[in-house]
Amino acid sequence: MSEQTPLQIQEWPQDPISGRLLTGHLIQLGLGRPELYSKILASRADVIVFRITPERSHWIPLRPELIERVLVTHSSQYGKRSPGYERLRKILGHGIVTKEGTEWKQSQKLLGRYFGLTQIDSRESELRAHVRDTLSEVLTEPHSIPIGPLMSRIALELFARYLLRLDDRAKTDRLRRALDGIFRRFVLWQKFPSPLTIRLFGDYSFAFNHLTGTFVELIQSIVQAMPENHPLRASYREAGIGDAGLQGDLRNLLIAGHDTSANVLQFALYEFARRPEFQAQARTSTPFLEDWILETLRLYPAIANFGRSAFTDDTWGETSIRKGDSVAVSPFLLHRMERFFPDALRFDPLRPQDSKRWSEEAFIPFGKGARSCVGRGFALREMKWILSEILESYDITLSSPEISETDLYPYTTLQSRNPIRLKFSRRIGRPGMPNHHD
Ligand code: HEM
Repeated sequence: MSEQTPLQIQEWPQDPISGRLLTGHLIQLGLGRPELYSKILASRADVIVFRITPERSHWIPLRPELIERVLVTHSSQYGKRSPGYERLRKILGHGIVTKEGTEWKQSQKLLGRYFGLTQIDSRESELRAHVRDTLSEVLTEPHSIPIGPLMSRIALELFARYLLRLDDRAKTDRLRRALDGIFRRFVLWQKFPSPLTIRLFGDYSFAFNHLTGTFVELIQSIVQAMPENHPLRASYREAGIGDAGLQGDLRNLLIAGHDTSANVLQFALYEFARRPEFQAQARTSTPFLEDWILETLRLYPAIANFGRSAFTDDTWGETSIRKGDSVAVSPFLLHRMERFFPDALRFDPLRPQDSKRWSEEAFIPFGKGARSCVGRGFALREMKWILSEILESYDITLSSPEISETDLYPYTTLQSRNPIRLKFSRRIGRPGMPNHHD
């Protein structure tokens, strides 16, 4: 491959503790994950490599052209058997996110038709009305709440309503409880990488397996309750993979599609709460609100890292990648690199319109290539609608401490150390809405 300048490679030593990627390295280096990521950024390297065993390495490419190679031009050489996806497989099962080859193409085709923008836009008023109802039910008086769970609930309800026409609060609540429990345990396992938690969670706990079972049963009952001629159910039957195929894909969609948008929404609201002066501007300008979302996706990419595994040997410049090596693509790291986004740690809603401070090729919150996010259009629309409904009715202020870089944990999904709490006060004069000043 052609390179303008030789690749700067930062090598981290082989992990002598567990032979496990990162977990062992973190213990050995005595670092938390945020500190390790700061060190990686400070190294200014183009490629990071962790030696896991003498035969196996883990690579983090930090040049857009290398990421393009892995995800687009040479994507057939890199599959989804990376360590991260192997762990996630226990949650995801077999569906559109984990499938490969013709099986994946089939799911992509069956689901792709639901994610066209015209179709999504045709449901705008119904979905916005649902957001309004939920907000007025939950945020009845000015009070401070942890914002994550509310966004998670709204995102799940919207998605279930959109794709499944599911309007059953009890069912979505049960789905959400199972999903939240699974995620909490998954994050806990990544958060405390010690030999003990590896033993306890390495093969996942009884509680984890139980929750996953509950989640799978719920999806099964949702599919079985669909009329036989429901277009989604009928199309899977016609394709020959029937209800089992649909259940696998739904399981993946619900996992990939609810916590991700909810995560970005909580950080977008956090940034609004820190800068009340911008709330008025976002109420009157849709392009400004859209740029706000882009800047949030840059600084807080919900999927902070995702992986691939090399099917065959490859070379990046002078560097040899061996069959079986793993590769992590890190939107979190790329979006924080000064060379692509000067003054990178500063949130600035004017940045997306300024090509000197914004690199389109380094902006990859939804991945790249054929396996990039199928729900991207839906995510961008729903985040805009939800934020716009919130801003329309409420002034937002911060009621928990500000987040610092070391409070951000870039696991597979981005997590903040402490819950973000916000206070919502009804705006005066909003038509049809009682407010706390009345
Ligand atoms: C802000 C919200 C979201 C972000 C940041 C996000 C991010 C991503 C990323 C980075 C990937 C690529 C992973 C890889 O290449 O290994 C991905 C894939 C995927 N996303 Fe999203 N996503 C979001 C919302 C959604 C929503 C709402 C849905 C469902 C409607 C969804 C469904 C999927 C699926 C099914 C895949 C796998 C696609 C495939 O392998 O063909 N995502 N997403």
